[in-house]
Amino acid sequence: MARIFITGSADGLGQLAAKSLIEHGHKVVLHARNAGRGRDAIKNTPEAESVLTGDLSKIEETKNLAREANKLGAFDAVIHNAGAYQASAKEVFAVNTLAPYILTCLIQKPKRLIYLSSGMHLQGRSKLDSFKTDSSRISYSDSKLHVLMLCMAVARKWPDVYANALDPGWVPTKMGGRSAPDDLQKGYETQVWLAASNDEKAKVSGRYFFHQKERHHNPEADDVLLQETFLNLCKEITGISFPHV
Ligand SMILES: NC(=O)c1ccc[n+]([C@@H]2O[C@H](COP(=O)([O-])OP(=O)(O)OC[C@H]3O[C@@H](n4cnc5c(N)ncnc54)[C@H](OP(=O)(O)O)[C@@H]3O)[C@@H](O)[C@H]2O)c1
Repeated sequence: MARIFITGSADGLGQLAAKSLIEHGHKVVLHARNAGRGRDAIKNTPEAESVLTGDLSKIEETKNLAREANKLGAFDAVIHNAGAYQASAKEVFAVNTLAPYILTCLIQKPKRLIYLSSGMHLQGRSKLDSFKTDSSRISYSDSKLHVLMLCMAVARKWPDVYANALDPGWVPTKMGGRSAPDDLQKGYETQVWLAASNDEKAKVSGRYFFHQKERHHNPEADDVLLQETFLNLCKEITGISFPHV
């Protein structure tokens, strides 16, 4: 049995992954943006161990969320699932790029880390030259490339952790919209598998998956120099260094 923390689990793929993990006998700690959504999260998934709150568009709330998560003790896996799409560039950047960086740095290192990217990262650009001075140019696709860069950097720097990213497909959640064409169940199965399965194929690191199969990703994410620049910029913006051990 594993203990898993899932960001953005009041709704959508985060909630579905939480339910599936609990059904498989695992313990899950939920996360929601505020107390009201926290109540919704527990109402939707009452079997969860508990729910933590914090608005990931605010750096201080994200840091506090990490402190609250650490108070609950170590997790076997953390799924960085929360994401913003139809929001300002500033919010997309804070929620999709900075929050996974902050939480990865500050939450006690789990055995497995899973990052929700998107097929749209293929159209993204890292924009590291203006990333610190002008986040208004960061698109959703850019942010999903950033989270993939973070995942690949983590996989390289922490060989004792399985760190992987995935594209859930275009699925009918609040974000994906009702007419999204891909299979909703397949949209959460990969993160559940990566978080808790003993399948040797899930015990890998530095991979990008679509429906439990490795898929081509933007090679910029594997560029060590770009990764280091990315981590340094995140450090300058958040005041948090990436821990090397
Ligand atoms: N759906 C798709 O087609 C699709 C495709 C590719 C990738 N993805 C990725 O998959 C992940 C899950 O998406 P989804 O489809 O399940 O979307 P969703 O239904 O909109 O759920 C997103 C979750 O993130 C939470 N969240 C958003 N902004 C937040 C903030 N500032 N602070 C705290 N929590 C916040 C939401 O909270 P509230 O419920 O309170 O808003 C919600 O629980 C995202 O990272 C997304 O980018 C989705």
